[in-house]
Amino acid sequence: MKLLVVGSGGREHALAWKLAQSPRVQIVYVAPGNGGTAQDERLRNIAITHPDELADFAEQEQIAFTLVGPEQPLAAGIVNLFRSRGLKIFGPTKEAAQLESSKDFAKAFMKRHAIPTAEYASFTDAAAAHAYLDQRGAPIVVKADGLAAGKGVVVAQTLDEAHAAVDMMLSGNTLGDAGARVVIEEFLAGEEASFIVMVDGKHVLPLASSQDHKRLLDGDLGPNTGGMGAYSPAPIVTPQLHARVMREIILPTVRGMEQEGLRFTGFLYAGLMIDAQGNPKTLEFNCRMGDPETQPIMARLKGDFSKVIEQAIAGTLDTIELEWDRRTALGVVLAAHNYPENPRKGDRISDIPPESADSVTFHAGTALADGKLTTSGGRVLCVVGLADSVRSAQSVAYEMVNQISFNGMQYRRDIGAKALGRKHH
Ligand code: AMP
Ligand code: GLY
Repeated sequence: MKLLVVGSGGREHALAWKLAQSPRVQIVYVAPGNGGTAQDERLRNIAITHPDELADFAEQEQIAFTLVGPEQPLAAGIVNLFRSRGLKIFGPTKEAAQLESSKDFAKAFMKRHAIPTAEYASFTDAAAAHAYLDQRGAPIVVKADGLAAGKGVVVAQTLDEAHAAVDMMLSGNTLGDAGARVVIEEFLAGEEASFIVMVDGKHVLPLASSQDHKRLLDGDLGPNTGGMGAYSPAPIVTPQLHARVMREIILPTVRGMEQEGLRFTGFLYAGLMIDAQGNPKTLEFNCRMGDPETQPIMARLKGDFSKVIEQAIAGTLDTIELEWDRRTALGVVLAAHNYPENPRKGDRISDIPPESADSVTFHAGTALADGKLTTSGGRVLCVVGLADSVRSAQSVAYEMVNQISFNGMQYRRDIGAKALGRKHH
C-alpha cells in the first residue's frame, strides 16, 4: 500500500519512518517533507501543499490513507475535504480541531464539561482586559485566541508585562486575527507533561507518556520554543496519574465532543500542568501529535503502525493494544543559529551518523540540494537515543550529537534532567 504524510517537520519524518517499517507499505509520500525524508529510499517527497491538490494526488495514486502532522491543515479543514471525496484520512475535522485552533472554544468547552483547567476570562475589548488584569494581579497568563505558531502565549510575571501583551495582541494587532480575542488565565505552577492519545470518535488509545522541554536554554531558561527535546516514558506520569488524566480529562473531552456533535477523531494531545500535590490541569489541547514528542514516541513504538491508523480510521481502536520498547527514548533537538527569533538558513550540515539499534536522527528544518544537506528552518534535527535508563539514553543521544555539526548549532545539554531528578538510575 501507498501512504501519504502531510507536513515537513521532525514529527512527520518520525511518523513516515515508522509507517514505512511495515512490510505492507511500499512507499510513504511526504508532502512536502524535508532533507531527511528526501534521503530515505522508502519515503518520497512531493512538492504539494494545497489541500485540493493533495486530495487529487491521493486519488490518483490510490493512497490507502493520509496522516496529517501539523495543526494548520487540520484547522483549515483538510479532513472535511478528504472525507467529502471519499478519501481515508486520520485527523480531526475543522470543527473538532477548534479544541486547538480556538483557546476560547477550548476553555469554554472545558468549563461546560467540568474538565480541570486554569480559571479564565476572554476579551475582545482592550479596556475590559486591562481592568481584569488589574483586578487579578500577576503572575498571570495572556493568550491569543487563535493559532499563532507558538507566539500567542505570554506568561507574565508582572502586571506591566501582562498589559503589554494585551496591547500587543488586541490593540497592536500584531498577531492579526489570531489575536483579535485574548484569553487571560490564572498562572499555574508545577511540572508540565504531554498526554497524547489516539481517538476514533468513540474509543481512546493512549500513547506512551512523554515530556517536552519548551525553553531554549538549559535549566528551563530563555524564550519559549516549539520544543528543544523530549523523552518517553515520563516518570512523572505514574499509573495513578495516568488513570486520573484519562478519567478527569481525556474521556470527558471525547464524550463531550461527541455530545456536542463534534466527534473527535485523530491524535488528541493534552498539555498538562501537574502541581506539587500531583493534581493535573489542562493547559491546552492540541489536535495533533507533539513535536518533538513524536520522535521518541515513534522510536519506542513496536508493531505495525499502519494497522493502528487503519483501525483508528475504521473506528475500532478498542480492538488493539500498543506495544512499547521498554527502553527510554530521549531526543535532543539541534536548532539553527538565532532560533527561535529569526533562524538562519543555508548552513551546511556535517555527515549524520547512520541509524542504529539504539539511535536514530529525524530531520526537521533541513534541505537536500545537489547531495548537500543544509539548514532550512529553526529546529534542524532531533537526535534520539534509546537505552535502559534515562541516563544511558542521554549518553547515547549526546554521543551522536557530538558527531554532528553546523554553524550556529544550538542545543540544550540537560534534556531528561527532570526525569533523573525523579527516579534513581
Ligand atoms: P500553551 O500554548 O497554551 O501550551 O502555552 C505555552 C506554554 O506556556 C505552556 O507550555 C506553559 O509552559 C506556559 N503556560 C501556558 N498556560 C499557562 C498557565 N496557565 N500557567 C502557567 N504556564 C502556562
Ligand atoms: N512540543 C509541543 C507541541 O508540539 O505543541
